[in-house]
Amino acid sequence: MVVDTSAVNRGRAVFADRDSLWLFGYGSLLYKAGFPYLEARPATITGWTRRFWQGSHDHRGTPEAPGRVATLVEDAGARCAGMAYRITHEVLEPLDIREKNGYLRFTTPMDFHDGTMEQGLVYIATESNAAFLGAAPLGDMAAHIARSIGPSGPNREYLLGVAAVLRELGVDDPHVFALEDAMLAWEADGVTGAGERAG
Ligand code: BEZ
Repeated sequence: MVVDTSAVNRGRAVFADRDSLWLFGYGSLLYKAGFPYLEARPATITGWTRRFWQGSHDHRGTPEAPGRVATLVEDAGARCAGMAYRITHEVLEPLDIREKNGYLRFTTPMDFHDGTMEQGLVYIATESNAAFLGAAPLGDMAAHIARSIGPSGPNREYLLGVAAVLRELGVDDPHVFALEDAMLAWEADGVTGAGERAG
């Protein structure tokens, strides 16, 4: 189901006393920020794990055939590596609209490689949102991503983009890399043109 969290997010005014704020990116923001930023630094947050468990009805799929994109799920003690962007407040409103399909703003501490820490924002689609898909067998998720396409392009580009940046950053994310391998294997196994599997 398509949801719209933009109004809720606008009500979540945060860090209003600061000229700029840190935003943690772990999905599309890794390979395509799409907004101006003052600074970008690799960072890690604790207590969350990246999972391709969120439905995308508006970017990498359609309402009829939603794609599968990244969100974060709670996982005590886990660490999720990504990219932190220092942004001005004006960036948030368009981002709320771009990521309105279930993502809510949360505040989180983020750790930088030099040992410093900052409080910042992260967008998370929790399992209570209507577009949440949840876990599925690896092969099913991989085939789903290989087949899906939406207004922002093929779902596969999203997965490959996330995996490529994590590789560049030297981050091991077994979920992402297993999904990437499974999707490439599924594709190599024979897909005919418009997303149909060869007999
Ligand atoms: C991210 O890449 O951090 C992100 C993913 C989905 C919605 C907003 C941000």
